Amino acid sequence: MGQFPLTLSSFITQKQANHQGATQELARLLVQVGLVGKLLAQDLRRAGLIDILGTTGEVNVQGETVKKLDEIANETFLKVFQQSGLVCALASEEMEKPVLLPDHWPQAQYMLLFDPLDGSSNTDCNMPLGTIFSIVRLRDKDRMPTEHDLVHKGTEQIAAGYLLYGSSTMLVYTIGQGVHGFTLEPGIGEYLLSHEQIHTPSRGKVYGVNEGNYHKWSGGTQKYIDSLKVKDTATERPYSVRYSGCLVADVHRILLGGGIYLYPGELDKPEGKLRLLYEANPLAMVVEQAGGRASTGTMRILDVEAKQLHQRVPLIIGSAEDVRDAEVFIQGRR
Ligand code: AHG
Ligand code: MN
Ligand code: MN
Repeated sequence: MGQFPLTLSSFITQKQANHQGATQELARLLVQVGLVGKLLAQDLRRAGLIDILGTTGEVNVQGETVKKLDEIANETFLKVFQQSGLVCALASEEMEKPVLLPDHWPQAQYMLLFDPLDGSSNTDCNMPLGTIFSIVRLRDKDRMPTEHDLVHKGTEQIAAGYLLYGSSTMLVYTIGQGVHGFTLEPGIGEYLLSHEQIHTPSRGKVYGVNEGNYHKWSGGTQKYIDSLKVKDTATERPYSVRYSGCLVADVHRILLGGGIYLYPGELDKPEGKLRLLYEANPLAMVVEQAGGRASTGTMRILDVEAKQLHQRVPLIIGSAEDVRDAEVFIQGRR
């Protein structure tokens, strides 16, 4: 008989021990993120039956319409982490200001940033959704964090990952020692190791981008996308398009099978759409840890100097060779 797969907490404590000097605490934190995932997966599964689809009528700090499920997902994070004692600050795409937790400090030295529900335009049509998270450690341990302390470079992340609510619910994370994926076994409510040490191929055959925005892009971006459609046997072109409207789902496909996802800067909006701290940084850490690459088109995502909590950034992410090709075109070197 084969061995029973490891659960999330036993994998971290058994296989990733002694890393960052705080594995137990990180393990507890990741298990709490997993709990948020279980609660949200349960809501999503019956969303059409319990009047939680549609919008709240509000507009968030990003200027985007808030879905009921965006709010529910954000509240779930707050409920779980306000009582966990594991973090001293929380920042979310859906909240203008961070939530600081002085009662948890100085015992808790971690801060959590998250996109509670990613791809929320998918809620009303039963398409995949995600949650993205990023964990950083307090720089100055001797004082309570302020909003400024949450604004950090991607290289400062201690851990990052995402939950994907697809045909299965998965939790994928890195603590800087490779990327590992767990599938929620709904019968027992446990995340079990299903994808140990994920490696992204250096080149893929798919690209994901909202091509409806073509006319808004620079000539370099347009030329790169055009190049993916021209037959070339050496690089297995033309590539196929796969775009779900959920960044997590699109990046997950590429993480496992290779390819490239782009949300590029636009002529009138050079900063693009996606958020540096809640979306680009955590996914960049995951993808780099799997051997891939994440870029703005001109520089590494993880080296971008963050200035504001809700800063946006162009994101080009996926297989290392594909992302390098895109950089060449975007920088006008071809
Ligand atoms: P969110 O739902 O958190 O606001 O994120 C939506 C993001 C991302 O998931 C997706 O890749 C992208 O926005 C889709 O945007 P377009 O509809 O402009 O393609
Ligand atoms: Mn998002
Ligand atoms: Mn969101």
